[in-house]
Amino acid sequence: MKFGHFDDLAREYVITNPRTPYPWINYLGNEDFFGLISHTAGGYSFYKDARFRRLTRYRYNNVPWDDGGRYFYIQDGDCVWSPGWKPVRTELDEYSCRHGMSYTIIKGVKRGIEAEAVFFVPLNTWAEVHRLTLTNRSRAARAFKLFSFVEWCLWNAHDDMNNLQRNFSTGEVEVDGSAIYHKTEYRERRDHYAFYAVNAPLAGFDTDRDTFLGPYNGFDRPAAVIEGKPRNSEAHGWSPIASHCVDIRLKPGEAKTLVFVLGYVENAAEEKWERKGVINKAKARGLIDRFATAAGVDAAFQELRAFWDGLLSHYVLRSGDERLDRMVNIWNQYQCMVTFNLSRSASYFETGIGRGLGFRDSNQDLVGFVHQVPERARQRILDLAATQFADGSAYHQYQPLTKRGNSDIGGNFNDDPLWLILSTTAYIKETGDFSILDEQVPFDNDEHTAQSHFEHLKRSVHHTVDNLGPHGLPLIGRADWNDCLNLNCFSNDPNESFQTTGNRAGRTAESLMIAGQFVLYGREFAALCRRIGKEDEAARTQEHVDRMVNAVLAHGWDGAWFLRAYDFFGKKVGSKENEEGKIFIESQGLCTMAGIGLVEGKVVQALDAVRERLDCDFGLLLNQPAFTRYLIEYGEISSYPQGYKENAAVFCHNNPWIMIGETVLGRGDRAFEYYRKIAPAYLEEISDLHKLEPYVYAQMVAGRDAYRPGEAKNSWLTGTAAWNYYAITQFILGIKPGYDALDIDPCIPPAWDGFTVTRVFRGATYDIEVRNPRHVSKGIRQVSVDGKIIAGRSIPIADPGTQHRVIVELG
Ligand code: BGC
Ligand code: NOJ
Repeated sequence: MKFGHFDDLAREYVITNPRTPYPWINYLGNEDFFGLISHTAGGYSFYKDARFRRLTRYRYNNVPWDDGGRYFYIQDGDCVWSPGWKPVRTELDEYSCRHGMSYTIIKGVKRGIEAEAVFFVPLNTWAEVHRLTLTNRSRAARAFKLFSFVEWCLWNAHDDMNNLQRNFSTGEVEVDGSAIYHKTEYRERRDHYAFYAVNAPLAGFDTDRDTFLGPYNGFDRPAAVIEGKPRNSEAHGWSPIASHCVDIRLKPGEAKTLVFVLGYVENAAEEKWERKGVINKAKARGLIDRFATAAGVDAAFQELRAFWDGLLSHYVLRSGDERLDRMVNIWNQYQCMVTFNLSRSASYFETGIGRGLGFRDSNQDLVGFVHQVPERARQRILDLAATQFADGSAYHQYQPLTKRGNSDIGGNFNDDPLWLILSTTAYIKETGDFSILDEQVPFDNDEHTAQSHFEHLKRSVHHTVDNLGPHGLPLIGRADWNDCLNLNCFSNDPNESFQTTGNRAGRTAESLMIAGQFVLYGREFAALCRRIGKEDEAARTQEHVDRMVNAVLAHGWDGAWFLRAYDFFGKKVGSKENEEGKIFIESQGLCTMAGIGLVEGKVVQALDAVRERLDCDFGLLLNQPAFTRYLIEYGEISSYPQGYKENAAVFCHNNPWIMIGETVLGRGDRAFEYYRKIAPAYLEEISDLHKLEPYVYAQMVAGRDAYRPGEAKNSWLTGTAAWNYYAITQFILGIKPGYDALDIDPCIPPAWDGFTVTRVFRGATYDIEVRNPRHVSKGIRQVSVDGKIIAGRSIPIADPGTQHRVIVELG
């Protein structure tokens, strides 16, 4: 069952039935100021950090779900309704929600009145604009009242839900004309306030929630709205809100547009006040003026659209499969940008107070967006590297506002450092900017310790080398990529977290996932060293890599697939000898991507084992058989019910590792089959089962052991986005940036006749046509550039601004 449809021309998903199986959301904002918005206008806004600077309140896991947001109410006599259906839930005559690239348009029609709200954050602006157009589609003149509504969050979203003994006394507001200011705590340490304004005279307003709603009412029945009587309430403590009331009169056919601005302002200490107790509103007024006219708003909206046209112009596929094209050209790239901005902090599954920017996560995310915003990618890499420790290990996450690392969700994940090599080499290949290697970057944000970024990469490599276990394989630490394989944790206390609890200081538990990762990125580092003339470093690294390959072949092969780990007691994990968890996906993925044992036939065997044991209707499972009992020496993984999360779900992040492994073998049909199985656009018809947005990936789809296989959870903020983009664009379609060329090596289903891609690379545009007349999966017969046949399959780098026609014939 579907709840809407794709509009590819507009780059929108159009929801036409508001009763989706879960709130289907979108993101507003691209830098500094962000909003989450659901298809019924639920959600919240924040400046930079969803924890420390939250503007509007949102109640996670509320009943009913997704209550609270940017709401409009229309009081048309005894008929009260909302254009987004919620919160009032009056049946609408027409409803649609168009989620587009950083904007959302919600339209409702009731009794001849149409209300269309466009929500977006203008570029380089610390504000959301809500442009509401009201149209009288009936034959009679109409008069009604329009109410707006947002509820302020008292800045620190964690305290806001927690410290009520204090908060209920701190809220402060000011009302000035048609602008309502949230100035809570501004008097003392804060240099910031927020406001919600409209470009129309008010019939009244409210700033105190309980007065506006009336005690015991929900957002669906505010007393002020039902009665059509704003109370002009002034909040002192309790729960401040901003609600405007505007009288609307419309002749038949007439339309009126109101522009609401929800903004954030910072003032320097000496400029905080206009006079005693009255905040300095100059910057807010500037913002309000900018959007006072429909023309100002339209210009900003066009700018945003043009910005996205630009971002999405660097890789454009025409494959003949509209679902594939819409994933590659629109939604997958869009999701990658969102994961760049938010990492794992704020979604409808991440509350914005739990996690910040993850070290491993943000490094991996980079391969999904580096071609869109290379300069910002550069800064991100340097920010991440600055949270590394001198021994090469790293904080697991940092807060975006402070850029300081913290251990709130644990530390000592031994895969973390190596991801820095993936991101840095991806960045240099995309841009040719080797100067990043010379940047001076501190350790643990201490400027005195600064060393070159190259040195950081070296220490990443050495962190693995310095932490090998009894079999010469990497020690796992707290956990590797799989947060829940906690081999040193031994937790039997329900009150502690698997992620942060003290670990046994064992030096036995080893990871085959990190072993594969080390071979892959160690090799990558050696290649980088060679490219910049550091032959000695390259040779040293290559020796470590070779030793690791030998260790994997000697101690990491279980007969038909790669082992997953050795536990604290030195026992095998992910082996035929185990009763449960005989095979895991991560080590098959990383070791086959690295081609370990390729000539000995181990890659084929491992991938065939994946096919046989881990494949199901909804994708590839993380492990099999699922754990049915808690194993204290394994930790969190065995605590989950079968088929969920890290215990035998389709954990979508790692499926592309197998796709890429398949391309190492040249099996394009399998690679693409795995791609399709989890790509959301191909799952649109089963939206009722899948439950989440059909335009973005979810982290997890319940596996075949689960109660409801196929049901997804945790959409948007997942490494799945970047890895699938990386797998399809660079390994299946096979267009791969290199240090000195654009390399072409597709691996596609043999049935395909070909495809074309327009790729902007280092400023030049390549129109690449791949032809497959012999219906092969992989292998290149001939490549021509601008009509001339070239030797090999590496397209030389052309001058910026030039355009080139590339024809690739497979066979
Ligand atoms: C989840 C992981 C997640 C981790 C974050 C675990 O409970 O299963 O997927 O990455 O928490 O700390
Ligand atoms: C989600 C986390 O964000 C990511 O870092 C981790 O690798 C996966 N869960 C697997 O546990």
